[in-house]
Amino acid sequence: MAYLALYRAWRPQRFKEVVGQEKTVTALRNAIKEGRLTHAYLFSGPRGTGKTSIAKIIAKAVNCENIGEGEPCNVCSSCIDINNGNFMDVIEIDAASNRGIDEIRDLREKVRVLPAQGKKKVYIIDEVHMLTTEAFNALLKTLEEPPDSVIFILATTESQKIPDTIRSRCQSYNFRRLTGPEILERLQQVATSDNIELDKEAGQLIARRANGGLRDALSTLDQIYSYKGKTIKKEDVLDVLGLVDELFLARLLEKILGQDTAGIIEMLSTALGEGKEAQQLARETALYLRDLLLYMVMGDETEFLVVTAAAKPLLEEQKSKIDRNQLLQALRLMMDTADKLRISEGNRFILEVAFLQMTQIFSSETPVVQPTRQEARTTRVQAGSKRKPDAREVLWNHLLAGVKEKKIPTHALLSQGKLLGARDDVLYIGYKKGYRFHKERMEEKDNRELVEAVARDILKRNVEIEFVFLDDEQYNDIIVKKAIEYFGEDIVEIKD
Ligand SMILES: Nc1ncnc2c1ncn2[C@@H]1O[C@H](COP(=O)(O)OP(=O)(O)OP(=O)(O)O)[C@@H](O)[C@H]1O
Ligand SMILES: [Mg+2]
Ligand SMILES: [Zn+2]
Repeated sequence: MAYLALYRAWRPQRFKEVVGQEKTVTALRNAIKEGRLTHAYLFSGPRGTGKTSIAKIIAKAVNCENIGEGEPCNVCSSCIDINNGNFMDVIEIDAASNRGIDEIRDLREKVRVLPAQGKKKVYIIDEVHMLTTEAFNALLKTLEEPPDSVIFILATTESQKIPDTIRSRCQSYNFRRLTGPEILERLQQVATSDNIELDKEAGQLIARRANGGLRDALSTLDQIYSYKGKTIKKEDVLDVLGLVDELFLARLLEKILGQDTAGIIEMLSTALGEGKEAQQLARETALYLRDLLLYMVMGDETEFLVVTAAAKPLLEEQKSKIDRNQLLQALRLMMDTADKLRISEGNRFILEVAFLQMTQIFSSETPVVQPTRQEARTTRVQAGSKRKPDAREVLWNHLLAGVKEKKIPTHALLSQGKLLGARDDVLYIGYKKGYRFHKERMEEKDNRELVEAVARDILKRNVEIEFVFLDDEQYNDIIVKKAIEYFGEDIVEIKD
């Protein structure tokens, strides 16, 4: 299917067509009407919110042959050439490229040259925060003594990186994120005009995911259109973006609140099996928890990111069951997990263990099994505030409990060890040198297989167990470092 490049086709050509940014639009349009444009502007704001589009409208307005009401006509030769990018006096510079930096260097001489084709030269400098110090200085010199026939429009997504010396010579406009309804309205307008049947829920989902950027929303629509054709439903959006259904998330939280660990692991397994990314699952869960938390605080004022009417009844129910502090803890955990997964891509363990950890957060304070004496000691050291269970501990407790159920002697041997962490499909359990006997017994076939079976029950897939000596330098270096990498600094204690 042909690629429409909707966001290009739908670049606003006059102020009237700009979505949102009312204050900026009104101020600039009036300045044009009254001939009060200044020589330098700084447009800052998030991606895809109209900075370059408005810069181009200004460029047309100052060169247009039939300007009316502060709007360019879009039919005169100047307007047409500017729209096609063929106008010599509108110069776009991408400050992020090497060429851009060279162009800034030559700027001081070039700006002196009078417009060749139109009335004013307009320099649009995009991503201006990317300039080197040297280039900023060159630009500053030019801004200090600007020729009358030149207008500079600097655009940036990171205004805090613009030196004050530059900022103070510009008139600044902050572009804001567009709201969900604003984006939805434009999406529907685009869809109607291109004969795309865009379901309302599908449109809402795209709008919410665009995070205030209209370009992203239009690109997403494009992408879904090119996979799915002219009829777009909510499922198509979920599918193409690899998102999880909100009802899935709601049910997952049900299982977490119900302490149904087997059910959780199964749901995760299904989602991963369908090709969802571990990181996406963590992220979506975090967004769902975020929606729930805001709903508890703000009620119907909430601007939901994932929840729509479909999941609202479940959300309502969960709201009354959940403790706000626990929810906040769980949200942090999921955000951290998503972050971790971004770095070490696709590690299932991180995801699974984070969810087990979440059940712990929502359970009462009692750990799954009584702590061993050794663990009790550690707990006392960290006494004081209520300790939040860490990922390793949760998995370890599940393992110990499972083994204990099956064979008490094995449990006695295992409980002298320590779960260090996981790497791919291997769990590492460490023993101090003095526990050689325990380690060697555990390495025997029966015991090892028992632990592996329990781990398989918990994680719903095959894992291997490797027993190592904690004091072994070699392992300390490699495994423990890995464990820290995967589970976070706080949970790996080797020297006690
Ligand atoms: N406020 C808006 N009104 C209408 N369309 C918009 C608006 N903002 C963005 N768009 C759509 O997104 C596309 C890109 O917008 P534009 O280039 O103006 O964004 P930008 O703010 O310059 O983004 P970036 O910081 O990534 O350069 C436009 O062609 C248009 O389709
Ligand atoms: Mg831009
Ligand atoms: Zn014109």
